[in-house]
Amino acid sequence: MSVMYLRGGRPLEGELTVHGAKNSVLPILAACLLARGTVTLRNCPRLTDVDAALGILRRLGCRAQQERHTITVDPTGALGSTISEEQMRAMRSSIIFLGPLLARMGEAHLTYPGGCELGPRPIDLHLSAIRAMGCEVSEDRGIHCQGRPLGGEVQLSMPSVGATENAMLCAVGASKITTITNAAREPEIGDLQNFLNSLGAHVRGAGSSTIIVEGGRELSGGEFSVMGDRIVAATLLSATAAAGGRVRLRGVDWRHLATVMSVFHQAGCRVESKLEHVELERDRETPLKGVPTIRTAPYPGFPTDAQAPVMAALAASQGCTLFVETMFDSRYRHVPELIRMGADITTEGRVALVRGVERLHGARVEASDLRGGGALAAAALGAEGATVLSGLNHIDRGYEGLEDMLRTLGADVERREE
Ligand code: EPZ
Repeated sequence: MSVMYLRGGRPLEGELTVHGAKNSVLPILAACLLARGTVTLRNCPRLTDVDAALGILRRLGCRAQQERHTITVDPTGALGSTISEEQMRAMRSSIIFLGPLLARMGEAHLTYPGGCELGPRPIDLHLSAIRAMGCEVSEDRGIHCQGRPLGGEVQLSMPSVGATENAMLCAVGASKITTITNAAREPEIGDLQNFLNSLGAHVRGAGSSTIIVEGGRELSGGEFSVMGDRIVAATLLSATAAAGGRVRLRGVDWRHLATVMSVFHQAGCRVESKLEHVELERDRETPLKGVPTIRTAPYPGFPTDAQAPVMAALAASQGCTLFVETMFDSRYRHVPELIRMGADITTEGRVALVRGVERLHGARVEASDLRGGGALAAAALGAEGATVLSGLNHIDRGYEGLEDMLRTLGADVERREE
């Protein structure tokens, strides 16, 4: 079994360019089904979730391959309309193929994605959006959708990222115009809009709560470069806050990190947000301060995906921090592992009270979800002694070579077989 061996006590120094965003490349790969020609995607991260999405495209009849950070998809041979249960279980966000399959094939057959480590992951908003566009949806032993979308009004009862993206992709293949209201505003939705429009679609409003998609336009092939990963950046900033030092990150839009940077500023770090980079510095002799309350929320609120890494940094601080996780039922699975490292954290439902301790100590800990894994690596670099981190399969879903990134910044970390 692969484990990460991390030794704390060293400040992080240096700079690196953050890799492309998992949560942007996944919907964009699904969107390739809508193109009538070859698509070349640059700045794509090398992740197991990306491998899973490429596998789905191939199973649907596309040619798809990744060479380092460039992916080429030729969707002209796409014939399939079914995503297997095995594929849905391998990556629950495979539900994002529903919209483009209906737009391209006029039918789609998938199984329920099932819950994940974060708790139940319902898809009712996805299905209601598809129905609102005129497709028939039956939920008899799986999800079976028929009919090309007509378009119309899609009112989301909550700003779901995936449901917004599925509605956009389905609407591109609709015959009429579609208006999506109460849409999610995450930056990855803006990237998806830019990608679709680069192929000849006419989508507008991403980043606001109302997105309008003109249907009936055929999409060509093309080239596109994926945005940087703001959550990977937040994880690296959290590691720097935990270990101390000075780190500069390029390749990510500082506006996407405003809430995270604000928290670390309140915690006593020196932070800098420029057009070309973000930077965080903390003197190891100056402890972090607790931050009153961190409440996760849909963008532009504090990102739920940054909750675990930021908590890992603030576990060793002066004072208390109250976290309120409003997005998922079970997003504190990293807490017992942080407690094994000496943290003092109490959780009650969606609330976690972090009472800062002077320093954490190394321990054997296990990641049980993607961002919890990033959090434990960050905590280990600020801890006294060595940490052995297992559960790397979770980490490799969304971080390309996390140990390499941290080593570039001076961390004492290596991946070992145990
Ligand atoms: C996306 O998941 C991200 N994944 C998640 O990142 C991220 O945590 C989440 O958005 C919130 O920002 C990808 O983009 C691949 P949602 P998604 O639909 O689309 C409820 C990571 O670590 N909901 O906005 O699944 C849902 O239960 C991952 O990279 C319904 O009730 O998130 C949740 O409570 C983890 N019905 C809330 O909405 C639905 O039909 C937000 O979910 C859909 C969602």
